Amino acid sequence: MADLAEILILEHLAIKNAKWITSEPFDSGTFTAFHSYLKTCHIEVEEKICFPIMESYSFPDAGKFRERVERIKADHKLIDTLAVNIIRWDEAGDADLVAKRKPLFFKLLVEHNTTEEVDLFPRWDEIESVEIRSSVNDAMSIIESFGVKEYMKATGLSESALRYLFRIRN
Ligand SMILES: [Fe+2]
Ligand SMILES: [Fe+2]
Repeated sequence: MADLAEILILEHLAIKNAKWITSEPFDSGTFTAFHSYLKTCHIEVEEKICFPIMESYSFPDAGKFRERVERIKADHKLIDTLAVNIIRWDEAGDADLVAKRKPLFFKLLVEHNTTEEVDLFPRWDEIESVEIRSSVNDAMSIIESFGVKEYMKATGLSESALRYLFRIRN
């Protein structure tokens, strides 16, 4: 089974390739769907499954590590607020502001994901805990609540790739 950090890294790759975010004209339906995936699926898996396992592990520098995780969570709030504002500015007809802030949103998001890959995910392999084993299945429960079809659309994963990564057998 792929491990959860590997799955999140694959999602980061899909996000990095979502260059349509910065292109014109603004597609509010696609952007809203992307925001929904980001908030209720990708970030949810990180904050509800991945980070709690990491934060409860006794790394030698656990205190400092937890501070890093808190900063990453603060980024999530900032990124979400910016996405919500972009949707609001679009609804209000402020196309200039939307055009100006879209590249900033994309840049912040891609840099944020890179920070997770540098500062957090390499630790995943060092953790010995029973929760690691159930983490991929727990992530799948969040993906199912979000919508498996929507997840495949957001990540570009085919059904067979998804079934292999998550070891879905039925
Ligand atoms: Fe994140
Ligand atoms: Fe992430």
